[in-house]
Amino acid sequence: MPETALRFDDVHFAYENASISVEVIRSLSFDVSSHEIFGLVGPSGCGKTTILKLAADLVTGSTSGSIVIDGTSPAQARAERRIAILFQRPILLPWRNVLENVLLPSQIADDPPAPSKAKAMELLDLAGVADFSDRPIHELSGGMQQRVSLVRSLMSEPRLLYLDEPFISLDEVVKEDLLQLTQRVAQSLSLTVLHVSHSLEDSVLLCDRVAVLAPRPTTVSQLIDISLDRPRHYQQRIEPEFLEALSSVRNAVHANGRNALKGGLQ
Ligand SMILES: Nc1ncnc2c1ncn2[C@@H]1O[C@H](COP(=O)(O)OP(=O)(O)O)[C@@H](O)[C@H]1O
Ligand SMILES: [Mg+2]
Repeated sequence: MPETALRFDDVHFAYENASISVEVIRSLSFDVSSHEIFGLVGPSGCGKTTILKLAADLVTGSTSGSIVIDGTSPAQARAERRIAILFQRPILLPWRNVLENVLLPSQIADDPPAPSKAKAMELLDLAGVADFSDRPIHELSGGMQQRVSLVRSLMSEPRLLYLDEPFISLDEVVKEDLLQLTQRVAQSLSLTVLHVSHSLEDSVLLCDRVAVLAPRPTTVSQLIDISLDRPRHYQQRIEPEFLEALSSVRNAVHANGRNALKGGLQ
């Protein structure tokens, strides 16, 4: 049996302030194995970003159930910088150059050792952006910036990589590059990946397993194995094996009811 890297067990969550309570997650359970690329697919607003934030201890509200990361809590995993997160849009300092952006979080963190320029260059090379290390961020395309964000998040040598719809605002060619890069990085750094998206296609292309989420308050409505060979390419989208996997996910989404489709699944 593979080791479990991340486990949600009967998790409930609601955003709460003085006047309102928004129930987002109801009895959510799933396990992600070590080195697996696991996907959560669900309609916009169902709670995908909230799930990632809970798994990274980045959100407060009314919570019950348990979330365990390699035997510890999300808070401890975050404190030990074992989690990297890549959001939909890169969050970088536009006037600083690529290398400065990559080194910044480790300079701010109070944990020695000092950030290593050699390590940064190695990762920039893996991501295919080493030649741009002294260029200011604002001169780079959106796809290049996303690569730099990925490199920055990998500087702390994380065990887990969370991806929050990282391909959504990119054009097709750039998506293909990032799909390749994500698979390469996950494999060469032995990462466990949790990917959330409303795109069925992106989820099937990237993931080993996909959990289909119900509309809010969300829970897992079905788990589907995606046993396509790797590395996977966007061109595969017209191949029968891919279409079969996509249709099993699509059927699960339909079985979820018409509400799921209203939320804007693609
Ligand atoms: N800080 C917050 N306070 C209250 N409600 C929130 C907050 N953040 C998100 N929500 C609500 O929680 C629900 C889930 O949001 P989110 O996790 O961002 O969904 P998704 O990523 O699937 O689009 C939405 O209805 C959203 O409006
Ligand atoms: Mg979101």
